[in-house]
Amino acid sequence: MSEATKGLAGLIAADSILSSVNGETGELIYRGYDVMDLGQNACFEEVVYLLWNGELPNQAQLDTFKAALVAKRDMPPAVLGMMAQFPRRTHPMAVLRTIVSSLGLADESADDISLDGARRKALWLTAIFPTIIAAWERIRNNKTPMPPRYDLGHSANFLYMLNGEEPNPAAVAALDAYLVALADHGFNASTFAARITTSTQADVYSAVTSAIGTLKGASHGGANQKAMEQFIDAAQRGDVSAWYKESRESGKRIMGMGHRVYKVEDPRGKLLRPLAERLAETSDRGQWYEIAAKIEELARKDDYFIERNLFANVDFYSAVVLYMIPIPVDQFTPLFALSRIAGWMAHIQEQLADNRLIRPKARYVGEVGRKFVAIEDRA
Ligand SMILES: CC(C)(COP(=O)(O)OP(=O)(O)OC[C@H]1O[C@@H](n2cnc3c(N)ncnc32)[C@H](O)[C@@H]1OP(=O)(O)O)[C@@H](O)C(=O)NCCC(=O)NCCS
Repeated sequence: MSEATKGLAGLIAADSILSSVNGETGELIYRGYDVMDLGQNACFEEVVYLLWNGELPNQAQLDTFKAALVAKRDMPPAVLGMMAQFPRRTHPMAVLRTIVSSLGLADESADDISLDGARRKALWLTAIFPTIIAAWERIRNNKTPMPPRYDLGHSANFLYMLNGEEPNPAAVAALDAYLVALADHGFNASTFAARITTSTQADVYSAVTSAIGTLKGASHGGANQKAMEQFIDAAQRGDVSAWYKESRESGKRIMGMGHRVYKVEDPRGKLLRPLAERLAETSDRGQWYEIAAKIEELARKDDYFIERNLFANVDFYSAVVLYMIPIPVDQFTPLFALSRIAGWMAHIQEQLADNRLIRPKARYVGEVGRKFVAIEDRA
């Protein structure tokens, strides 16, 4: 039997027409469009439409699509009531995972995995993620969840529900660019988890619950929270260079650095770095951009990082952007999910359209030929 490929690194698991991640040139393409181009010009809803339909919408199509999302923003009261019972210390990703699973109970056609059925669930989940995340933020702070507004776009409505006040246009624009930048990314771990679950003919809620659980880990979506915590740690140390030296000497990983696919700069980092720099000019949290930029500069001169082609990844500057908006640090990974639901749902639909069970093999390297020993004779 051939050698196992640890972490499935570099293996091609299927053909996809959704997004292309080029690790050598540092390019990310959604349906043929460069993410840089989309991040600078498109709103999140346009990109969701593009991922699901293959074309950018014209104005009438975008208006209809936005209206369809707006119509699905409200949370079922029973689900909201359930959230109120959760321990206040529960991590927002655990809440999101649990609530998405419970939404399956509220959907009478949860097991409809036809393409039309999946499309209806895609719309609902994409529309309702902001409501879930904002509601938990308010509930855990003993505030009443804000009902969604119907006159605001996806990002603006989220910030409104989070804070209960008219959102700042600069924060809305930054959040929208962030959501566009993270909407899809080839066969990343959470997307692959969603596709594996879908391939077994399980329902969409199960697939998205798998994806959320997979995104939560520090090697994937959890890295943005960890990156911000390290910036805070570096600031508390009072000397970023000393903090960097100590971290490196202790063998700690620098969070938000390195990538399985990109061996050059992550294009999403290229999009988000100038955004972070611009936000820093007017934000009272501007020092966090300086701290992140200093750590990146130290890593760029560090032979260890140079030899291993380790660059700032998407989580490095997105942590700073989210912190300046401002988003609470442990809500960073749910914000990643708020964007990536677009990609997950595109991949679930692509998997359903041409499904085959995803089931690789393991190379057995354990013992053979052992004989059963009665329990009283065992050491
Ligand atoms: C993303 C990540 C999991 C990719 O992992 P991977 O492709 O399996 O790469 P490996 O873990 O095998 O790392 C390769 C080498 O680079 C080193 N390395 C990778 N990321 C590093 C980091 N952030 N800080 C320090 N060293 C790092 C590893 O120690 C390893 O060194 P070695 O060859 O001497 O053993 C990894 O870079 C990482 O843990 N980064 C920090 C977490 C993060 O930002 N995740 C978000 C990704 S978008």
